[in-house]
Amino acid sequence: MITEKLVVTTIEESKGEISRAAEIIRNGGLVAMPTETVYGLAANALNEKAVSDIFAAKGRPQDNPLIVHISNIEMLNNLVSDIPSVAQKCISKFWPGPFTAILPKSDIIPSSVCAGLDTIAIRMPSNPIARALIEKSGVPLAAPSANLSGSPSPTTAEHVLLDLDGKIDAVIMAGKSDVGVESTVVTFAVNPPRLLRPGGITAEQLRKIIPELVIDKAVFSEPEKGKPVASPGMKYKHYSPKANVIIIDSNAEKYAEYVNGHTGEDVYALCFDGDTESLVAPCISYGNENDSAEQATRLFDALRTLDNQGCKICYARMPKTQGVGLAVYNRLIRAAAFEVIKL
Ligand code: TXA
Ligand code: MG
Repeated sequence: MITEKLVVTTIEESKGEISRAAEIIRNGGLVAMPTETVYGLAANALNEKAVSDIFAAKGRPQDNPLIVHISNIEMLNNLVSDIPSVAQKCISKFWPGPFTAILPKSDIIPSSVCAGLDTIAIRMPSNPIARALIEKSGVPLAAPSANLSGSPSPTTAEHVLLDLDGKIDAVIMAGKSDVGVESTVVTFAVNPPRLLRPGGITAEQLRKIIPELVIDKAVFSEPEKGKPVASPGMKYKHYSPKANVIIIDSNAEKYAEYVNGHTGEDVYALCFDGDTESLVAPCISYGNENDSAEQATRLFDALRTLDNQGCKICYARMPKTQGVGLAVYNRLIRAAAFEVIKL
């Protein structure tokens, strides 16, 4: 299959490309679309065949449910059987934006979208191109991140093509994702609501609306083997570069001392801006130490770069875990298969 590359600048200037993408969706095809978080691999959520093609293109395990993307609130009412009032408050506050609500599902959604669960994950993205595509397609769009299962999520159309060129119908080429990590996922199917995946909407923001919010253990730690997990996606190693990533939890001085004492062939440092001068190993910075939002936009690209350069062992500096930093840490600790050295 030849993957169409649809370059979109603004909605006004790229009407033809967006119409073409919507036509592909209506015909049951797969289109990678930009969102404010990461690129998503979109298909008509009501079309079982298209949904099964998403799983096939990504090599995604069948038991990992998809997020359904909507462009207006009317679409939500058809997809869910109940909206608890606390969910309604969060939706009003955080949509459109990087926030996914898990709610009891209605019957119109094929069970494969939700991996057989009785709940559905829904999000209204703020990216205007994503919204225009949903609107034009006229259907809700199931869209996981547009990467091969197990590799870092794509924050550019080029990342998408590296993983999926020739496997999907089209890619909308529209520059870099703003947030850079996937949406915050909260389930309202349990009481109190539970944060399953941290993202662009922070735990601190959520707690203003849901003081009793529970943070799922899987956010910080490796799920126990064989035990059920609230969010199936969390049990996979995920965001996983080929390199063996080890997180070093320390200050800049101790980090440099440790990494300089463990140099070798294809050993890299994934560090912060100011660290590079004191390191002898090849370094890739993922941003300013105190700027979690910047780290979020750079982390996945940095992980892909490490792989491209042939990195075998990577010592990554531990990010701060406040605000969006919790999402950065959550992704990095999965890339590191939960290996952290505290100095
Ligand atoms: O920002 C995002 O959320 C991106 C963009 C494209 O919107 N999408 C994304 O999708 O990250 P994906 O499939 O890579 O991650 C969806 C996560 C998985 O961890 C999955 O297990 C969880 O949401 N999930 C989906 N439906 C669920 C459900 N009904 N119950 C629990 N977890 C669910
Ligand atoms: Mg994903």
